[in-house]
Amino acid sequence: MTSTALTVQQTARPTGFPTPDDFRFAESPVPTPAPGTALVENLYWSVDPYHREMMDGDFELNSPLEGRSLGRIIATRDPVALPEGEIVFHRQGWRTHAVVRPAEVRRLPRYEGVPLSAHLSLLGGTGLTAYVGLTRIARLREGEDLFVSAAAGGVGTATGRFARLLGAGRLIGSAGTAEKVRYLTRQVGYDAAFDYHDGPVADLLAKAAPTGIDVFVDNVGGEHLGAAIGALRERGRVVRIGTVGQYNTPDAPPVAFNHADMVEKSLRMEGFLVRDHLDVQEELYEFAVPHLLSGALALDETVVDGFERIVEAFLLMLRGGNTGKILVRRSPNL
Ligand SMILES: NC(=O)c1ccc[n+]([C@@H]2O[C@H](COP(=O)([O-])OP(=O)(O)OC[C@H]3O[C@@H](n4cnc5c(N)ncnc54)[C@H](OP(=O)(O)O)[C@@H]3O)[C@@H](O)[C@H]2O)c1
Repeated sequence: MTSTALTVQQTARPTGFPTPDDFRFAESPVPTPAPGTALVENLYWSVDPYHREMMDGDFELNSPLEGRSLGRIIATRDPVALPEGEIVFHRQGWRTHAVVRPAEVRRLPRYEGVPLSAHLSLLGGTGLTAYVGLTRIARLREGEDLFVSAAAGGVGTATGRFARLLGAGRLIGSAGTAEKVRYLTRQVGYDAAFDYHDGPVADLLAKAAPTGIDVFVDNVGGEHLGAAIGALRERGRVVRIGTVGQYNTPDAPPVAFNHADMVEKSLRMEGFLVRDHLDVQEELYEFAVPHLLSGALALDETVVDGFERIVEAFLLMLRGGNTGKILVRRSPNL
């Protein structure tokens, strides 16, 4: 076993896009677990848009960061609750090793044939966000037409795949490159997609969905939100999941939309945080695992190998370099 642990720390508060200089890797001896705890060697890390929001204040400078991670218990002082060899989910990410108490981890169900990484993508918080957005917030009905922004990202691909299995009508997605647009229609099951750089979003959406939409799942905010409100049919719903289009551009102008539309079309707009819906996790397993095993569902993941590339992976994702959920893997030989 290696004797050195690495931890990523934030060293400065960026304005706009962060850079590698806003982080540093700190070395320390691998920690020793105290009674009632265990030492976890992390195997997979999630880097997420919300980490960018946390960089503005919630992440303490020069301290270990938090993030979702999967790891293996390699030494334990509580063999009953934290048995050696067990794979666990916890929130002490951005570091190679973590010392955890039983209440800080979730032991993961293992499904033969389902890769471990799925627990941070389709079966993890990303998939849960998509599933809750569709079933609890949009309350999607069969045949309804859906528009999804940041459709080629983690939540966006999961939303498209789940919506198809839940009986949605037409699926329309927007993404940042022509390659992603092709990926959406050829791999994920979207009926139409567009690159939002190709013109005003309202025009691109009108072309892709000439008769309108019933539901908008919004990961981006800004111009996408205004355009979608215009395209919604009567009793349409906006599911506000995130505002990734604004995290690095704090001076972006406020969203312009026709406020009367909300009344005249009886629209509903609702946001949510996935952490308030953790009770849906078992239902997600029941829904998604059989489809994963039958091949009806596939994982969309961009995997970056090597903990030393975690900052690079995070910055890549903020600039749209990922397709599907971006994950960092300790090594390709897991
Ligand atoms: N409510 C919750 O509990 C919850 C939980 C998880 C995630 N979220 C939110 O869901 C959204 C997606 O998260 P994710 O983890 O799945 O990330 P993701 O979509 O995999 O990655 C972020 C994507 O955002 C897109 N993007 C970046 N800047 C943009 C801009 N200015 N305009 C349009 N698109 C832009 C990029 O794709 P392009 O190449 O297409 O630009 C990039 O790939 C985020 O807003 C996140 O904060 C919310």
